[in-house]
Amino acid sequence: MPATSKSCVECHGKSSPGIIDHWKFSTHARKGVGCVECHLAQKGDVDGFTHYGHLIATVVTPKDCGRCHEKETTEFTHSHHAKAGNILASLDNFLTETVEGSRTPFNPHSPTPGRPDIHEVNGMASAAVGCQQCHGSKVALLAKDGGKITLDDLKPNDKGQPTNLDVLDRIAKTEDGRPKLHADTWPNTGIGRLNLDGSLGSCSACHSRHDFSPRRARQPENCGKCHLGPDHPQKEIYEESKHGVAFRDLKDHMNLNAKDWVLGKDYSQAPTCATCHMSGHSKNGGTITHDPGQRISWTNRPPVSAVLDTDKDGKLVTEADPAKRRALATFSAEEKRTNMKQVCHHCHTPDYVNGFYKQYDDFIVNYNEKFGKPGQAIVAAMRKHELLTKTEFDEEIEWTWFYLWHHEGRRARHGASMMAPDYAHWHGMFEVAERFYMQLIPQAREITKHAAESGRADQAAAVNAVTDEILARPEHKWQETGKKPDAK
Ligand code: HEC
Ligand code: HEC
Ligand code: HEC
Ligand code: HEC
Ligand code: HEC
Ligand code: HEC
Ligand code: HEC
Ligand code: HEC
Repeated sequence: MPATSKSCVECHGKSSPGIIDHWKFSTHARKGVGCVECHLAQKGDVDGFTHYGHLIATVVTPKDCGRCHEKETTEFTHSHHAKAGNILASLDNFLTETVEGSRTPFNPHSPTPGRPDIHEVNGMASAAVGCQQCHGSKVALLAKDGGKITLDDLKPNDKGQPTNLDVLDRIAKTEDGRPKLHADTWPNTGIGRLNLDGSLGSCSACHSRHDFSPRRARQPENCGKCHLGPDHPQKEIYEESKHGVAFRDLKDHMNLNAKDWVLGKDYSQAPTCATCHMSGHSKNGGTITHDPGQRISWTNRPPVSAVLDTDKDGKLVTEADPAKRRALATFSAEEKRTNMKQVCHHCHTPDYVNGFYKQYDDFIVNYNEKFGKPGQAIVAAMRKHELLTKTEFDEEIEWTWFYLWHHEGRRARHGASMMAPDYAHWHGMFEVAERFYMQLIPQAREITKHAAESGRADQAAAVNAVTDEILARPEHKWQETGKKPDAK
């Protein structure tokens, strides 16, 4: 036990013994990394407090882990994971904060009154317990007036220390001088957490404290805290796939406790999420990446899937001209796909893997062209001609379209990418087709009918022209002929 942490271990061994039990058998404990080494704060850190002779902080950010794990931290910081907290302007966020969240002012007579010391508690409740537990909260200190003090107010420098010193007087503290964390934002281990020191993310999103067990991080349940459910059922998809079936059967033989866990050296029975997306393997010298985006060629998150050519900052390149596109893309989708194929090649032949990718690409392109782009065009035409209000989610067709791409369309695409036929079809394209033909189109027709009847015939005709053109395409002709386009 490191001498500096002796008192922490003894006292917390009585007050919160679980923490000590978890830490005691960890690699950190064996290598002399004690409580102080991680919880250490520097003079000037806004959340630091003197605790039995040591200056420490409760929140341990990637900046703290990065003092000893530089490579992992740099890769993680460049990943999409670290940026997952930037969802505040998204459509989903309008749903949770406005449509779901009540935002009623504090009312002492209501059956469930908000806490008077915390403002906004009603309005943010759905986001704090939902979205932010996966995506990450903007960690805040409690202000004396009950408000929040975040990195936006603190404006931290490279060292993570505040440059706006005016706010320091506003921080609420306990009697012994510990700054209080705002309970709307803490506890939180969301993957893109916006920390007080300006760093992004939380390593304990995957590395559970206090054993930081790599065994647990390697298992699908770990990713499954976030990657599941109606809009991104990756965990259920994996369980259905032959890979998941093999994993459940053989996991006891997979050496999950190995120090390094290299595919081909330590195991080869089955791939887990970590195997395909992060871990080292026989074809890449056993190198782990903490940026899972390094092996992904499509993003299936938006309404229409896009090829993931990204620039030096990890932003999507949208340039259409192929030559210019190549020049702008620091990391091409093709390269990323090659990185993933190398993993597959440990267990499958190139022809087999290329065949899989052909099936996957054809599926994505079919979804994009037959339903994704057409749905997007119809909704956009209605907006352009003001047949929809400016407010999102106040009209049925907006929910219809959201279900189509955000739930069913994603499920289909995710199922296809990871070998789960039921998600690709019955939970996927079947529902996409039903939603498109039986709801989206009839609802669009209904809206234009009402518009025409109420003196907006031009706008209605313009929208109908878009829908008519789409339905006249060969792939939608089955409605008239009862045949597929190439059926001869
Ligand atoms: C004499 C007992 C004692 C010692 C020594 C001690 N702690 Fe604590 N610590 C506590 C108690 C009790 C709490 C609960 C909060 C409170 O009452 O202050 C606490 C709170 C904390 C918190 C804040 C938790 C939160 O929810 O914000 C952290 C972090 C922490 N201790 C870490 C440490 C570290 C690291 C050391 C060694 C430098 C240490 N403690 C030494 C008793 C102790
Ligand atoms: C490898 C780094 C690391 C070490 C070593 C470590 N901690 Fe922590 N600790 C964390 C992280 C990470 C969190 C979660 C906070 C976060 O998400 O930032 C945490 C949270 C805590 C909390 C508050 C959370 C809770 O569940 O109450 C306490 C108290 C705490 N640690 C005490 C200790 C004590 C005592 C030790 C020594 C036995 C210790 N820690 C060793 C990284 C560490
Ligand atoms: C003071 C330095 C230090 C800090 C801070 C630190 N670690 Fe470590 N960590 C180590 C050392 C040393 C090892 C053992 C390396 C080895 O055996 O090769 C280690 C090992 C690990 C391992 C592998 C564990 C295993 O059993 O193989 C993980 C995962 C890890 N650290 C995560 C973290 C995370 C997450 C944080 C921040 C919450 C953190 N570390 C903070 C020094 C540190
Ligand atoms: C159970 C965890 C979880 C919850 C709760 C959750 N998300 Fe997500 N969200 C994810 C995951 C995982 C992804 C990435 C899925 C993928 O890559 O297929 C994602 C993707 C997104 C994206 C797409 C990002 C992009 O790069 O295109 C947005 C926007 C988003 N979520 C916003 C929200 C909002 C707002 C809420 C609350 C209303 C929310 N999410 C709730 C886990 C969650
Ligand atoms: C998305 C989940 C995830 C996040 C977030 C994550 N890790 Fe990891 N990490 C893993 C997995 C999975 C492994 C095990 C890979 C293996 O052994 O094949 C791992 C392994 C490690 C190791 C051991 C590396 C080795 O060479 O054996 C360290 C150290 C580590 N992580 C540190 C960090 C730090 C620091 C952060 C935050 C900056 C972090 N991790 C964030 C999933 C994650
Ligand atoms: C705490 C929640 C959480 C955990 C745990 C988590 N993820 Fe994620 N993951 C997300 C969110 C949220 C996104 C979407 C980020 C965005 O687009 O803004 C995401 C995105 C991804 C992506 C797409 C990356 C890209 O660049 O396109 C991959 C691949 C991924 N995660 C794999 C994993 C794997 C593998 C694990 C487990 C080892 C894991 N994730 C654990 C929340 C999580
Ligand atoms: C056999 C390897 C393999 C396994 C196992 C695997 N994946 Fe994937 N995953 C893929 C491939 C291939 C893609 C598509 C890559 C592309 O588009 O180029 C993908 C795509 C993804 C994406 C991107 C989704 C988007 O919206 O763009 C996420 C997130 C993801 N996987 C998470 C997971 C999680 C979580 C698990 C475990 C529950 C898992 N994967 C298991 C191979 C795998
Ligand atoms: C660790 C070894 C391993 C890795 C890595 C791996 N697979 Fe597999 N794969 C298997 C096993 C085992 C099966 C199941 C064979 C069976 O049950 O007949 C399988 C089955 C498949 C199937 C057939 C699915 C079905 O339902 O019949 C496809 C397609 C496939 N893998 C593609 C891939 C792709 C693409 C990758 C890389 C992204 C990959 N695999 C990575 C071991 C692996």
